[in-house]
Amino acid sequence: MSIAIIFGANGGIGQEFVKQALERHAVVYACSRPSEQSDAKTLPHIKAMDNGLQLVDIDVLNEDHLKNLADKISNQYGHVDLIVNATGILHDPNGLQPEKKIEDFNLDNFNKVFQINTASTALIAKYFISLLKKSESMPAVFASLSARVGSIGDNQLGGWYSYRASKAALNQIVKTLSIEVARRNKNTAVIALHPGTTDTKLSKPFQQNVKPEKLFSAYYSVSKMFQIIDNLFLEDNGKFFAWDGSTIEW
Ligand SMILES: NC(=O)c1ccc[n+]([C@@H]2O[C@H](COP(=O)([O-])OP(=O)(O)OC[C@H]3O[C@@H](n4cnc5c(N)ncnc54)[C@H](OP(=O)(O)O)[C@@H]3O)[C@@H](O)[C@H]2O)c1
Repeated sequence: MSIAIIFGANGGIGQEFVKQALERHAVVYACSRPSEQSDAKTLPHIKAMDNGLQLVDIDVLNEDHLKNLADKISNQYGHVDLIVNATGILHDPNGLQPEKKIEDFNLDNFNKVFQINTASTALIAKYFISLLKKSESMPAVFASLSARVGSIGDNQLGGWYSYRASKAALNQIVKTLSIEVARRNKNTAVIALHPGTTDTKLSKPFQQNVKPEKLFSAYYSVSKMFQIIDNLFLEDNGKFFAWDGSTIEW
């Protein structure tokens, strides 16, 4: 039975990943952040829907939650075919904004951005990577949503220190994980994905200078990213793909 797990499932891109994963996988765990009223000790909560969708309330930075979910899936199915981490932060309602200049740098915001954008992928990998198995010829896939602005070689505009650095560090985690996976778990491809500028809550405040044809719907960008995932070979392990299938310099 084919199993997928999507983290950040309440986000613009994450929600669309859940929809399109349901067209491909028998069971899809849609993992999103719990409401502030939830009691962390009783999480993760899993609610089964009748179409194979499993709605999961989980704090992606809480190792007990991640271990609990990984154990449940391991006991029930013994493997996972696809994991996507679509969690991410660029700004928040508490005043966190991408820096225009170095004087805007704020350590608390930097730490928050790194936890969500970088550490979440390492923590998910810590608990789920050994579950990624696929018996057919196609590899199992671990995909993390990165961003072109995380490429150090491609940095021409500057600004956005914390977000850029968090995605550059995420890229290093993805690359390092791909090397470990090639040794340990030979039928898995670990990749980073740049969705293109996509019309979501995250990009909303920064869309005014984007040409209409360069601003994608979540449906379009996720369809393009699934084209990449559906056609991955093991040789693609450790690559950073843009939405159109081209590779980006790390
Ligand atoms: N949209 C773009 O143009 C674009 C471009 C390049 C890369 N990306 C990347 O694509 C990924 C998805 O972004 P998106 O556009 O779908 O943005 P989004 O709609 O804002 O979704 C972001 C997701 O991250 C979760 N999240 C944010 N802060 C969190 C926190 N403190 N704790 C736990 N979860 C948190 C959100 O949960 P809630 O729903 O509960 O807030 C949501 O599920 C991100 O990694 C982003 O960096 C997006």
